[in-house]
Parts: sequence; C-alpha cells; structure tokens
Amino acid sequence: MKNILHQIAEKLVENGKGILAADESTATITKRFDQINLQSTPENRRNYREMLFRTTDAMESYISGVILYDETIRQDCKNGEKLIDLLIATDTLIGIKVDTGAKPLALLKDETVTEGLDGLRGRLTEYAQLGASFAKWRAVISITDKTPTDYAIQANADALARYAALCQENSLVPIIEPEILMDGDTSKHTIEKCYEVTSKTLDIVFDELTKASVDLKGIILKPNMVIAGIHSPNQPSGFEIAEQTLKCLKDHMPDNVPGACFLSGGQNDIDATKHLSIMNKIKDFDINLSFSYGRALQQSALIAWGGKDENMAEAQQAFRHRAYMNSLATKGEWSEHLEK
Ligand code: 13P
Repeated sequence: MKNILHQIAEKLVENGKGILAADESTATITKRFDQINLQSTPENRRNYREMLFRTTDAMESYISGVILYDETIRQDCKNGEKLIDLLIATDTLIGIKVDTGAKPLALLKDETVTEGLDGLRGRLTEYAQLGASFAKWRAVISITDKTPTDYAIQANADALARYAALCQENSLVPIIEPEILMDGDTSKHTIEKCYEVTSKTLDIVFDELTKASVDLKGIILKPNMVIAGIHSPNQPSGFEIAEQTLKCLKDHMPDNVPGACFLSGGQNDIDATKHLSIMNKIKDFDINLSFSYGRALQQSALIAWGGKDENMAEAQQAFRHRAYMNSLATKGEWSEHLEK
C-alpha cells in the first residue's frame, strides 16, 4: 500500500482542486468581520464557516482540503452536527493550523519567528485523533531596507523543519509556508528583490527539511508568488509574475515535492486567479501548482454575506464562483470573460 503521507499530499493537489484556508486566528477573523461590522463571537465565526462548508457542490468539485483553526475543528453546526462532518461528507481533507503566530525576534527590528513548537507533539496527536490529515505552519519573512537577515530566515526554517518532522511522525502532511510578505513599506520591494529573497528562503527551508529527515514526497509547499511589494512603483505584468514564480520554483523547489499551493497574500481575487492560471498554462515542467487561498477565496463571499442569514445563498454563490475560477486556474483554463 502506498505511504499514507504521499497519498494525502497527492490528494491535496489533485487536478482541478485546491485548498481553502479558513484558519484565520481569532484576531485575524475579527479584522475580517470588522469590514462588515460584525461582532466576532464564536457563534458568528461558526455561522460564517458553516455557510462556506455547506456550499456542497463547490466543496465536492473544487476543494481538496480545508485548513481550520483550533476553535473550528471542535465546533458544532447550528443543528448540533459537527462542523468537520460537513467536510467528511464532501470528501474534503481536514487540515489544522498549528503554529501560534509570528512573534517579534528579540533584538531584531521588524523581524519575526513563528512560535508553537512547545507541546506540539501532543497537540498533533490530538488533532490526528480529531480527524486532521494535514497541518499548516506559516513563517513570515518581510522585505524592508534592512531585512530579511540571514538569521531570521534560518530561525524560521529551523522551526518549519522541526514542525514538519513532528507532523510526519504523527502521519500528518505538513504544509510548509514560508511567506515573503508583499505588504512591506519599502519601495525597494521590487519583483527582483522578491525573487532573490524567495529563492534564498526556499533553499534554506529545503536544506533544513532534508537535515531533519522530512520526507519531501509527504509535504506540500505553500509559497508566495514572486511579486513586487504593494508600494513598489514598478508593478510587473501578470505574465512576468507567472514567469518569475515558475523560474523560482523550478530552480529552488525539489522536484519530488508533490506540489505547491500558493497563498494569495493580499493580491486581489482576480489577480490571484489570473497569475495561477498563467503559470499553469505556460509551465514547462511537471509540478502540480494549485491554491491555498484565504482572502482570495473568501473576500467576495464575506462581503456578500454581511453577517445576515438572508444573504446566505448570494454569499455561497460568490464562494462557488471563486472556487470554480481557481479550479480552472489549476488547469490553466481561466479567462477574464468568465468573471462576468
Ligand atoms: P491568504 O491567501 O489570505 O494569504 O491566506 C493564506 C493563508 O493561509 C496564510 O497563512
């Protein structure tokens, strides 16, 4: 029988499907709810996520896995059913965010290291018992005039490798997310700079994963696209972003990793879809490229919902549409006119 980690990783990047990142921490979902003036209570968070997971046709056709936050994996639907049973019913793999957030690196200005290793082995065992088959850890690297330092990249890569090994020990596929932020406040954040930092970060991360004996066929990479910072005066075209991202992955991602599922990182919905689609259209090497979007899958649904039951069908339609557009993008088949 095929190794269970390989099976899960391959299922996550099954053609035409991608991951819904619905693992916003309470602080982050509260910021999202602020946009619709909705109080962030456990009940409202449940209602929102239940609405997404009950978009059954979209979940079945376009979503391979959902990343949950600790609260959600334990939560019940309005009718008392377990929320995760909705995912099991649509054959959607259950993922769990296990880091405890990016914390300031002592003595280093503007840099963070992601925490959460203490007690992780026990938490992973519990999550596996609750039904999770994969996990997520997000490291954050920021580009400023003075960062990233080699030390910050190394510290984050070290934590990612220790997390990944612990996941595999518990038969969970680790999602490896070293995010180079696109929203720094420097004009020096050009696409060239992003290429350089992303390449270097991937090299160090894969080096640490290898040293930690992590089985690369049983992980999924969740990279940023190679993109200019939002304050950069030189904004590249979608084609350039796709080309540079492909070149970066081709040269810095080992080819036995089953696939990369991009984060959206603050790109608008349509750009995130467009860039993924161009990449899948022009790529000349055999690697599965898909999505693991949070905002780019949810933003239009959140706004359509507005916290009101009566808007549920419209919000589900918005989510279904984005999931479908991104599904097409995984095959390089998206085009702008389909957005109308
Ligand atoms: P975004 O797609 O909104 O960047 O979120 C993805 C994610 O899971 C970040 O950890």
